Formats: sequence, structure tokens, C-alpha cells
Amino acid sequence: MEIKKGKKVSIIGAGNVGATVAYSLAMKGVCHEVILRDRNPDISMGKALDMSQAANAARTHTVVKVAHEASEIADSDIVVITAGSPRKPGMSRDDLLMINAEITKEVVQDVKKYAPDSIIIMVSNPLDVMTYVALKESGFPKERVVGMAGILDSARMAHFIYEKIGYGAGQIRASVMGGHGDTMVPLPKFSTVAGVPLSDILNKEEIAEVVERTRHGGAEIVGYLKTGSAYYAPAKATAIMVEAILKDTKQIHPCAVYLDGHYGHSDVVSGVPVALGANGVEKLFEMTLNEEQTKQFAHSVESVREMINVLKEKNFFD
Ligand code: NAI
Ligand code: 2OP
Repeated sequence: MEIKKGKKVSIIGAGNVGATVAYSLAMKGVCHEVILRDRNPDISMGKALDMSQAANAARTHTVVKVAHEASEIADSDIVVITAGSPRKPGMSRDDLLMINAEITKEVVQDVKKYAPDSIIIMVSNPLDVMTYVALKESGFPKERVVGMAGILDSARMAHFIYEKIGYGAGQIRASVMGGHGDTMVPLPKFSTVAGVPLSDILNKEEIAEVVERTRHGGAEIVGYLKTGSAYYAPAKATAIMVEAILKDTKQIHPCAVYLDGHYGHSDVVSGVPVALGANGVEKLFEMTLNEEQTKQFAHSVESVREMINVLKEKNFFD
């Protein structure tokens, strides 16, 4: 009797984030196979061997391999996309937007061809726009294209709250919605330390400082690393999404998804709370926001829409 195929996760772009997602999945034995696909197959081969051996040491059943051909991602349950180009000197934001949109388009064609039933988790930046590109270029139902940012941004906010108060590590539940950028919307009113409202612990000025630091959490790390951006927390956040889908947990996480009239916005992607399960996005939650939160969310959505419009003006989707 033949052994039935196990859970397979392909990761396109095996750089800092992609490889660390693979490592995180392998160390926890979240799936049977992780497939790495990158423009640089040799480095990926080295990483795959190293991680498969680490999985053996950790006594997990995950094997990490390399896809030399795009067809080797066939039958993936999930495809994580972290392929992207960093911003180089002299390159404008719009130049970078166009380059990463082209990379996403190219990669998504392979996903559409070889893994048409998969769920896409988008990671490449600018995240909300790339999730929109992946959705449009794949033609997948909106439930099967989801972007990673909210889990990361909320974890950053939780850590910054910890740094302010000095206790409660691991018990802090912070909430962030909106796009993954400077206009993101941290929600201190929906944040608690073991159920104690943040507003009972920190004063207004302290909360404002946490909010501001969260908005620039990615840049703070780039400032130290100099040659790249964060990858441990981004990878863990991505692995949490993979696990929720493969194990069909139906737990709620903030993720970037297509809005179709939700919160009054359409034909755009932004971060909102959703239940993740075997079908991808199984439910989208529309929280009651106050006037200020509604305004901030609308501002964040519009900043994503502006970038989508840049692509539309360049006939990218034609
Ligand atoms: P990296 O430069 O270490 O890795 C990117 C990888 O993509 C490289 O190995 C490169 O060879 C590969 N690549 C480029 N084009 C490709 C193609 N057409 N096919 C296959 N592979 C290709 O970058 P890092 O740090 O891993 O970040 C990856 C992306 O994730 C970036 O766009 C970054 O801005 C984004 N990011 C997003 C986060 C989020 O919250 N959504 C958090 C952290 C990073
Ligand atoms: C981050 O927030 C660069 O989006 C990436 O770290």
C-alpha cells in the first residue's frame, strides 16, 4: 500500500524570512515537507540539508527540500511567498513597488499552474499591495490569499508594552489593524495585560509612545541590522498562520485580506481580524470602531489604495 501524501508547505524566496519560516516549521514538525524555492538553488540546498538534519536532532518528522523546477511545488497545501528585492540606492518607492510586483506576478503564475488548490500566504513588501497582486494574478478565491503582518505588528506592540511596564511578558495581548506600514492602526483600547486593560496600567502619554514605536517597529530593527530587515518575528508570525491553516484551528489572528465592503472599503487589502482554518480565511470580523479608529483605518486603507493605483496606472493588471 502506498503511503498517502503528507502536508506540504512550499516557500518561495528562501532568504532570511523564508528560511527562518522553514526552520520554525521543521523544529515544531508542523508539516511533512517544506520545499524551498529561490533564485539561488545552491544556497537553498545548503539550508535545506542543514534544516533537515536539525529536524532529525529535534526528533521531528519534517523534511526540508529544494525545488529546482517550479513543478516541484505541486500539491502544496500552502505556498508562502517571501521572494522580493531589497530597496537599492537611487531606487524610488514606486520603482521598488514595481519590481516586487513583477516578482510576485512571476511567482504566482507558478503557484497557479502547479499548486492551484493551495492557500497563498504573502509576506513580501509592500505587504498589503503584494497580497492584492497575488489575489488578482492567481485568480484564487479571496479566502485563499492572505497576507502576514498583523500577528507581527501585534507582537511588536506587546513587546513594547512589556518594555514600558517591565512585567507580564507572554501575557500581553496587543491589537493592531490596518496596513503594514507607517499608517498601521495600533489599538490600545483593545489591548490588555492578562485581561487588565492597558489604560489601567499606562497613562495616555505612555500609550502614545507605545503606539508610535509600534508603527516604526520594522524600521527600528533595520536601524540596527543595517543590511536587512527583521526575520525572526516575521517568520514566527508566518509559521503561526501556516499551523492554524494546516491544523484547522479556526483561531482568530489579524491578517491582511481582501475587503469587499467590509468596514466600508472595497477592492483593497488591509489587516483585520480573521479566523484561519483549513479553507484559509474562514471568517472576517468587523469590530466596532470609534470615530478616531475609523478615521485612522480609512487613512491606512487609502495609503494602500494609492499604491494599487500606481500599479493600475502602469497597466500592471492588464
Ligand atoms: P531576503 O533578501 O533575505 O530574501 C528574499 C529572497 O527572495 C532572496 O533569497 C532572493 O534570492 C529571493 N528571490 C527574489 N526573487 C525571486 C524569484 N523570482 N523567485 C524565487 N526567489 C526569489 O529578504 P527577507 O528579509 O527574507 O524578506 C523577504 C520579503 O519579506 C521582503 O520583501 C521583506 O520586505 C518582506 N518582509 C515582510 C514582513 C511582513 O511583515 N509582511 C516582515 C519582514 C519582511
Ligand atoms: C518589517 O516590518 C520589513 O516589513 C518588515 O520588519
